[in-house]
Amino acid sequence: MEPIAIGLLGLGTVGSGVVQIIENHQEKLMHQIGRPIQIKKVLVKDLKKERAVTIEPTLLTTNIEDIINSPEIDVVIEVMGGIEETKNSLIQALKNKKHVVTANKDLMALHGSELLSIAMENGCDLFYEASVAGGIPILRSLVDGLSSDHITKMMGIVNGTTNFILTKMSKQGSAYEDVLKEAQQLGYAEADPTSDVEGLDAARKMAILATLGFSMKIDLDDVKVQGITTITERDLQYAKQLGYTMKLIGIAQIEDDKVEVSVQPTLLAEAHPLSSVNDEYNAVYVYGEAVGETMFYGPGAGSLPTATSIVSDLVVVLKNMVLGVNGKSIISPQYEKKLKAPHE
Ligand code: NDP
Ligand code: HSE
Repeated sequence: MEPIAIGLLGLGTVGSGVVQIIENHQEKLMHQIGRPIQIKKVLVKDLKKERAVTIEPTLLTTNIEDIINSPEIDVVIEVMGGIEETKNSLIQALKNKKHVVTANKDLMALHGSELLSIAMENGCDLFYEASVAGGIPILRSLVDGLSSDHITKMMGIVNGTTNFILTKMSKQGSAYEDVLKEAQQLGYAEADPTSDVEGLDAARKMAILATLGFSMKIDLDDVKVQGITTITERDLQYAKQLGYTMKLIGIAQIEDDKVEVSVQPTLLAEAHPLSSVNDEYNAVYVYGEAVGETMFYGPGAGSLPTATSIVSDLVVVLKNMVLGVNGKSIISPQYEKKLKAPHE
């Protein structure tokens, strides 16, 4: 049986997890899609670097063209990060009729609608479940599971690194720099952790959530952002003494077509369910007019949880290939309404 050929862009924290899941769950994946998955080429920067997974050296390349232009590759999994160059490469891949799965929220928050249009024009799937809340299948839940409802608000913790930092500072009295270093070693932080600690990573995720949840194009510039860099151990200790927990909270709400999206450090009463979401875990409350309140909880960062979302997206791509419906079931809002900016 001919295998489905995958090109993997990146073999860091998330890419290594993707390789592990494809290898370790091969039988289950085969059962679901009826064909084996074969990793054909893997893009890295440094061919000599020690890797978390064993990979045949001949599979590695430093030339992205070997993947995006290869007639042998069916699906490109993008886990390298970056915005402009990565966008151009993925456009090239889509024009070459390759389906794309990405974990890249920086890219999807800025250029998601353009990329999704190009994917549809070319009959390709473009899935990005891993871009928000790591291992929690929140995007599909919004567009599929809750599609019949009118979502009015989403609120939660969508950055694992800052939650890890705040948890360790508050519960163990650890120093900010030490915990940030630990989060980097564990693979939770971005290549440049400034986007984590200054709230930009969470803002990108909230823009994606709000776009899908409210079926409107929400730009990153529409999100008010404040990070955790000014929070001190003393602030956290005072909060604790008063019965509160500090969390970096993202909120997106809509009323009369007016949307407000923000990310900011927030004091929560200790009894609040989000107070007990610790370490790299994420949680998102979704409020729907009919369903009421639902909460999604799970690991928000890290190798295997994030890779789970990616490989699950891959399974959908492959099932779509079998059914011949690629490019028709993408996770994309219908843009029913135009955003009324906060100042209007
Ligand atoms: P890493 O830095 O661990 O890995 C990036 C990989 O991409 C490395 O293998 C690197 O090569 C390769 N790479 C990067 N740039 C280039 C380039 N220009 N040319 C060739 N290879 C390149 O990142 P992560 O795995 O942590 O993250 C990857 C993506 O997933 C990012 O978009 C991130 O935002 C997203 N993400 C990450 C999560 C996490 O928990 N870490 C969770 C959800 C999303 P080399 O190894 O040789 O340096
Ligand atoms: N740096 C991100 C976080 C990775 O800490 O949440 C997951 O998107």
